[in-house]
Amino acid sequence: MQPDINTHRARRERVIERLGVGVMVIATAPEAVRNRDAHYPYRYDSYFYYLAGFPEPEAVVVLVAGGEPRQILFCRERHEEREIWDGFRYGPEAAREAFAFDEARPIAELDEAMAQILEDQPQLAYAIGADPAWDARVLGWLNAVRAKGRSGVAAPERLTDARRVLDEMRLVKDAHELALMRRAAEISAAAHVRAMRTTRPGRHEYEIEAELLHAFRSQGALAPAYTSIVAGGANACVLHYVTNSQPLNAGELLLVDAGAEYGGYAADITRTFPVSGRFSPAQRDAYEVVLAAQAAAIARLAPGESWHAPHEAALKVLTQGMVDLGLLQGEVDGLIEAEAYKRFYMHRTGHWLGLDVHDAGEYKVGGEWRPLEPGMTLTVEPGLYIRPAQDVPEAFWNLGIRIEDDALVTAEGCEILTGGVPKAVAEIEELMRHD
Ligand code: GLY
Ligand code: MN
Ligand code: MN
Repeated sequence: MQPDINTHRARRERVIERLGVGVMVIATAPEAVRNRDAHYPYRYDSYFYYLAGFPEPEAVVVLVAGGEPRQILFCRERHEEREIWDGFRYGPEAAREAFAFDEARPIAELDEAMAQILEDQPQLAYAIGADPAWDARVLGWLNAVRAKGRSGVAAPERLTDARRVLDEMRLVKDAHELALMRRAAEISAAAHVRAMRTTRPGRHEYEIEAELLHAFRSQGALAPAYTSIVAGGANACVLHYVTNSQPLNAGELLLVDAGAEYGGYAADITRTFPVSGRFSPAQRDAYEVVLAAQAAAIARLAPGESWHAPHEAALKVLTQGMVDLGLLQGEVDGLIEAEAYKRFYMHRTGHWLGLDVHDAGEYKVGGEWRPLEPGMTLTVEPGLYIRPAQDVPEAFWNLGIRIEDDALVTAEGCEILTGGVPKAVAEIEELMRHD
């Protein structure tokens, strides 16, 4: 799917409108050295890409509000030799046209140009504190404008955080973003189905990671949106386990938390299933608690519901389940009040999802959990993580279970974007049945 240039231009127009006065500057991410002269695969900055749709490093968007609004892109110039070694560069002229900017200029001219663009502007908005080198550079521009004070120009008085405006916009996805997120979800769901189908006792966690990668790349996804977690048995109790090195054993569960990035957008799915294809009774009992908690959370996804409501709903079911399984003793409300559940469920039930796997956007507004709105996208991911202990029934030792789906809040309630991968016990066992 090609970037929709008019969508990006329209986003920039909205930013200019919301900014009202002054200038916003958003730089893309630098290239990162892996070792010596080898680099990590390049990934643009999410704020920059949201506004520009432009994939090259060494680029900056400058938006001028007030007076005559201007959208300016600074980027690398064409370079015959570098293009022979590293590939195509747009250069300012072609980039201006292809990405619908009013102006485009060589990145080498940025400092000089900013000292001019900022003259007599009341405000400068940028990502304050995100990168000390940029903070220093911005102060350099301000001082360059101040140095011209005797010729009657003034430097911006107000420095504001550009992310305040951008986070609010990124929180509610537009149609272009939703198309990309649906595709990321579809690719990731197919990858999880492949992981279930190819899991057998004796294979290794890394082999299942390779199955996921194969499914991501062969369907056109650039990369995993985050490092895949492929955690057999007790490893599933390590929340961010990414070693993925161990053999898979019959009788154990496998937790897979993996999602593709497509067109810049993340999917984030977790499934937990038996290595041998059949749940034991204890595994099934614990699994059904998590599945019911997820259903309770999903039932609270609707416009006007608080961000916190799905988490509360999941906590009730999980804590009741912990009592029923014999992990906790006592009365559910009191156990929730005392946060006793945290021994077996220590994370929240979801997060915003988008260009970043843990996406931009505040969870509280004015000190209150924010209400859900149509167009918001988030994960729903309850879990149970049971480490061995004398007061825990042995049948549950070392079980780590999480079930995670991606949801879009709609006018009526919600749409699950990742429904393409089964999660009911019978469906999983059917899918994993080997002839
Ligand atoms: N995969 C990271 C998360 O689930 O939040
Ligand atoms: Mn997640
Ligand atoms: Mn996840």
